[in-house]
Amino acid sequence: MNRNDFLMLNQDIIFFDNAATTFKPVSVVNAITDYYNKYCCNAFRGDYKIGLIVDDNINNTRNLVKDYINANSTKEIIFTSGTTEGINIVAAGYFRKILKEHDEIILSKGDHASNIMPWQRLASELNLVIKYVDLDDSNYVTLDNIKRVVTPNTKVISLAYISNVIGDLRPIKEITNFAHQNGIYVVCDASQSVGHRKTDVQDLDVDFLVFSGHKMYGPTGIGVLYGKKDLLELTDPINLGGGMNETFTDFDYQLKELPTRFEAGTLNIAGIIGLGEAIKYINSIGIDKISEYEYKLREYLVNKLIKLDYIDIINLESDSGIVTFNVDGIFAQDVAIYLDKYNICVRAGNHCTKLLKDVINVRNTIRISLAFYNTTEEIDTLVDLLSDKDKIIREML
Ligand SMILES: Cc1ncc(COP(=O)(O)O)c(C=O)c1O
Repeated sequence: MNRNDFLMLNQDIIFFDNAATTFKPVSVVNAITDYYNKYCCNAFRGDYKIGLIVDDNINNTRNLVKDYINANSTKEIIFTSGTTEGINIVAAGYFRKILKEHDEIILSKGDHASNIMPWQRLASELNLVIKYVDLDDSNYVTLDNIKRVVTPNTKVISLAYISNVIGDLRPIKEITNFAHQNGIYVVCDASQSVGHRKTDVQDLDVDFLVFSGHKMYGPTGIGVLYGKKDLLELTDPINLGGGMNETFTDFDYQLKELPTRFEAGTLNIAGIIGLGEAIKYINSIGIDKISEYEYKLREYLVNKLIKLDYIDIINLESDSGIVTFNVDGIFAQDVAIYLDKYNICVRAGNHCTKLLKDVINVRNTIRISLAFYNTTEEIDTLVDLLSDKDKIIREML
């Protein structure tokens, strides 16, 4: 990895908000620009040379995604606008059809709004029951706690693979194994894992998995919904329109095969091309190498922060590059604004995980989320600035 691949890093900035979105390497930006400047046209419509280039690029990205998450087939890879849309399609397109009154859905209070609210709406429409798994002392989801909350009515478990505030890696493979033995579906929000850790849908055996391109060095507005083929065959697309219909008559229509039936209207072509390039970029480094490096960086940061007795680290042991903390007596946003004076970008607030406050008893936290382009020198700069509490108080006023 060369930091020069990221033009955003060629300025006086330290970016520690990678869980919100990552920077994009030049290869991603160039691929998008090339599409607009050299072969800009719609997809799967044009019987001309540049149209075929677009079609090839889309097919190539679908293949890259399939290999990247080890899906069985490109039919299982649906392009969406992101994680949020993916979960909404799964909830409204599949589970609305098969769930019945009093069926139960298990979620976690450590999860993002987009993996809570679509289920809440479904629950209120169908009179379902939502249950939240207890988090353990480290605020982790464990298989034992999942087992405690499962009943014969449980039909769905929907969890992030890596949560976005605690950063814990959920034992999804074990949960899926247990769930499937009990006739329960597993939906996985992989938005915080795909860019940082191997995410293998066959190994995890999840039924549906969703993620966003922009959290894995790709562009915004593009994401992926993976589903097992037999489940996707039974899922209704949310959007109907051009491109996805085989034919339609005055009062009826017939849909195309997977995956096209889910991709109504003009695709986010630039986004898809950019996502393909982002996967190539990650592959050129190696996802395992990325995980290893980010984990070491995390340890380095935690070992330094822990020495500051007025810093309360919320997730001392998490398995990802996410470190969440508070500075005693100082509002999280004030710390973020103080750091921003030194061009350090961190996230402060509830991180769209508004239910977590019931568990950790604080509403707002500061979150550092690392990427492979971060360095120990950047962490040293951050910790130096946090090392003088009086200075923080003085300068935030
Ligand atoms: C765990 C998790 N799930 C879902 C989302 C939503 O992703 P998007 O806004 O790309 O749809 C996020 C975004 O931060 C997230 O961290």
